[in-house]
Parts: sequence; structure tokens; C-alpha cells
Amino acid sequence: MKKGTFYITTPIYYPSDNLHIGHAYTTVAADAMTRFKKLTGYDTWFLTGSDEHGQKIERAAKSRGETPQDYVDKIVAGFKHLWDRLEVGYDDFIRTTEQRHKKVVSDIFQQLFDQDDIYKASYEGWYCTPCETFWTDARLVEGNCPDCGRPVEMLKEENYFFRMSKYAGRMLKYIEEHPGFIQPASRRNEMVSFINSGLEDLCVSRTTFDWGIPVPFDPKNVIYVWIDALTNYISALGYGSEDDSLFKKFWPADVHLMGKDIVRFHSIIWPMLLMAVGIELPKKVVGHGWLLLDSGKMSKSKGNVVDPLVLVDKYGVDAIRYYLLRELPFGSDGNYSEESLVERINKDLANDLGNLFSRSIAMVEKYFQGSIKTSSNLEGPDHELIDLAEQTPAVVEELMDKMELSNALAAIWRLVGRANKYVDETAPWGLAKDPARQDRLSTVLYNLAESLRFITIMISPFMPVLPGRVWAQLGIEGRPELTTWESLTWGKLPAGTVVKKGQALFPRIDLKSLEK
Ligand code: MSP
Repeated sequence: MKKGTFYITTPIYYPSDNLHIGHAYTTVAADAMTRFKKLTGYDTWFLTGSDEHGQKIERAAKSRGETPQDYVDKIVAGFKHLWDRLEVGYDDFIRTTEQRHKKVVSDIFQQLFDQDDIYKASYEGWYCTPCETFWTDARLVEGNCPDCGRPVEMLKEENYFFRMSKYAGRMLKYIEEHPGFIQPASRRNEMVSFINSGLEDLCVSRTTFDWGIPVPFDPKNVIYVWIDALTNYISALGYGSEDDSLFKKFWPADVHLMGKDIVRFHSIIWPMLLMAVGIELPKKVVGHGWLLLDSGKMSKSKGNVVDPLVLVDKYGVDAIRYYLLRELPFGSDGNYSEESLVERINKDLANDLGNLFSRSIAMVEKYFQGSIKTSSNLEGPDHELIDLAEQTPAVVEELMDKMELSNALAAIWRLVGRANKYVDETAPWGLAKDPARQDRLSTVLYNLAESLRFITIMISPFMPVLPGRVWAQLGIEGRPELTTWESLTWGKLPAGTVVKKGQALFPRIDLKSLEK
């Protein structure tokens, strides 16, 4: 029996260049959430995609002598390749240049115009070309764009506007009545003060470029980015089309996940558009922190980016996913450095988890010819280990529900730590010397093998390749009934299971030889 549905989205990324590990962070986090929900019994849908229109793309294509479509096609193929390498198992990839998307955007624009929520007016203001945004005098910072700090120019255009001001009151009320809508709470407070500072109507069209979806009744204008981009979350589900079964099944989204830079668009503009169209609002907008490089935000325009493909080749996909999801505490920024990555791999993965695993398997081979025996009389440290193992799944589930992925991993690693301590406390190599303690020895090794089964099931959403390797060595490959979330009750691992030592899960990395 499914527990219900779970629909999660990432931002749709700009194909203005290749993606870096900042983008990988969001997408891998959404993937881990999806896998976790699936593992714990939900019917899941995971959407990602690409935001392909706009002046920046048009210019980038031109500078390379390509059509915008050819240009984005190549970059988007690169996105998909990256997600494959990172084991990101999205259910759908929406491109804003697809017909299924363009139709919905165009229809919504028409509807909003027909009901007078969009109107035409002349507009003069400071325009930031890189950000494609108009600013009022008051918002400029030392005469420059408040978002990117670059110079702005005075521009006059006839444009279409969305009546945001009309929905501001309803929006505030909604945020007040739904305290969990914007997360974390610090971001929610920022949004409330942003609305309170007064919302102007939003300019939703452009005439300065062509690469976009035309305004249906006035094709000299193209529909500007936010209506185009945000609508992806419903166009991908077939909203307004002949087959809207996915929309009926999965909307409203459970989580729109993104970096803090675009929370404003998702928690103010998007819900107001939905209110105007008459569609239910998403359940949660979650804004995570940034991955910083030398304390600055990694960004293509600054040129300080780290290519995730290079890291995957060098360290493996599980290690990179673990590092990203562990290193960035929920809601706050985190610093990226290759040293901290190698340190995490050596400490958490090679030492703590890898050694626990290889030691345990090696001992079962050495003392019992690879065969796991039943456990019998339990003693002091056994209870502590078993209690912690039995409590951890519920703790992890609760943390994942709060999107605290890093804390969930930390909770699993407390069990890894407890199991390592258990090895020291019970000293199986000592027991092995005493023929009278064979029974005790088999109990200790059983408890270690069972702990490893628990740990591996719980980390599988974060590190999708690892479980297969563990199950093969632990001798339960092809026994899905032993690797489900429901199987997390102590003692399911059958006696007589035969383990087989294989390669180290995570070999240690020598930072010095790496530098050479
Ligand atoms: N196209 C818009 C989103 C439209 S969604 C309807 C966009 N695209 S983007 O390519 O610039 O991607 C922005 C997102 O990438 C951020 O919100 C965040 O999720 C992710 N990140 C980009 N740089 C990042 C870091 N340095 N750190 C963490 N996440 C980062 O904005």
C-alpha cells in the first residue's frame, strides 16, 4: 500500500553554460529526497529541466554563430549527461522550448489578460541586461543592479504587467496561515518583509529580444522569463492538456527545492500566478544555502566553478553525493574545497564505514568460513547497539521530512560510530582464541552484519551505487525482501547467509600523491 504521492522539483537551469557543483547540489538533494520517499512507500514524481529562453541565451548562441535552438540542444544534452553520471533518476525533464510547455504558458497568459490580471502599459526604468530585470531608482545600489552589482541602463518600453499588487494581501495571509510554506523560517521572514515593503506590478513581457514564447495576441512581445519558467512545474504534468492525469495525481507539489537566490520568485510570484489562474498552491518552497568557493558564491559569471564531472571521475559518484549532502547544513551556506572532500571520504567513508564493513566481513570469513550464525544470548553492549539501530530509521525519517539531509546522514553515522565502538568493546579477535566463546563470537558477528544491513538500507537514497556492492559482499544480493525499509526490524538477516569479501568500498585517498 502506497502512503501517498510525493512530487518534488528542482529549478530548471539556464543552459547559458555547463552546470557546476552548486547546481549538482540542488539536483542531487532532490534525487535523494525522491529515493527516500520511494523507499519509505510513497508514489513519487521528480521533475527537473532547463529554462531555455531569454536574451542571455540568444546572445550566447549568436556569439558562437549558432541558432539559439542548436545552442541549447547541445548544452541540455550535457545537463542530462551530468545527471546520468550523478545517478539522478528524474521522472521527467522539461524543456521550456517544448511545445507541451509553450502551449500552457501561452494559454495562461491569455487567461490572465482576459480576466484583466495582465494589462499593457508604458514603462520606463533602469534595466539590468544580464539579469533581464527592471529596477526602480530606490532599489538600485550605488546606481547599479541590486542583484548582480553591474551597471544598469535607462530603457522605455510598452509592456505587459501582472497585477501583483492585487494579490499581495492574500499572499501575506496565506504565508501567515501556512507557517511551513516557506522553509527555512529565516527565509520566510525575509519574504514577509519583502511583501510588506510594497509590491509593484510585475513586468511580464519584453520587446528587446525574440528568443521566447510570443504573447499570443501581440506577438511583437515575448513572455518574460518568470511566467515562462515557473509554469514548467505544471506544464510538465500535462496541466491544461488532453491528458492531465499526472497533474491530477501529483499537484500540488510537495516540495519546490532551490537555492536561496530564487526563493522570492517561488514563494511570491509563483503562488500569486497560481492564485490568479485558480490553481492550488504548492505545499512547500524550500530554499537551501549556497555552496561557496573561497567564501564567494560559485557562479559561472565569476568563473570560479567546479565541474562535477571531473569530481565524479576522480572520486566516484557515491563519494561526491555523500560529500555534497553531508557538507551543506540545511538552510546555511557551506564551503567547498577539495581538501574537505578528501577528508570526508577518508574519515567518514574509508575509515568509519569502509573499515567497519571490511573488518566485519573478514572476521566472518576467518572465524566461520564466511557463514553468518544466529545470535543467541545478548549482553550489555549488544542491547545498546540494537536499540540504536532500531531507533535510527524513525529519526532519519523525521529529519528527511524536514529536508534535513545532512542531519539524517549524521544520524546514520552515529550508528556507524556505535558499531565501530562495539567492535572495540567486544574484541572478537580475543573471543576467537577461546573455543568456549564461539557462541559469543557468532553473536557479535551477527550483530555487526545486521547493523551493516540497517546502515546500507538507510544510506541507499544518498549513495545509490553502494548498496549493490554491499549486498553482494554481505551475501544477500537478489534478496529484495531483506533490503526494503519494512525489513528494518532487527534479526531479519537469516542465519546461514554466506558473505564474500570483495574490494574495499572506499579506498583511502592520499592527498599528497593527489597534489603531485
Ligand atoms: N532558470 C532559473 C530558475 C528558474 S526555476 C523556475 C535559474 N537557473 S540557474 O541555472 O541560475 O540555477 C539556479 C539554481 O542553481 C539555484 O537556485 C540553486 O538551486 C542552484 N545553484 C546555483 N549555484 C549554486 C551554488 N553556488 N550553491 C548552491 N546552489 C546553487 O535561476
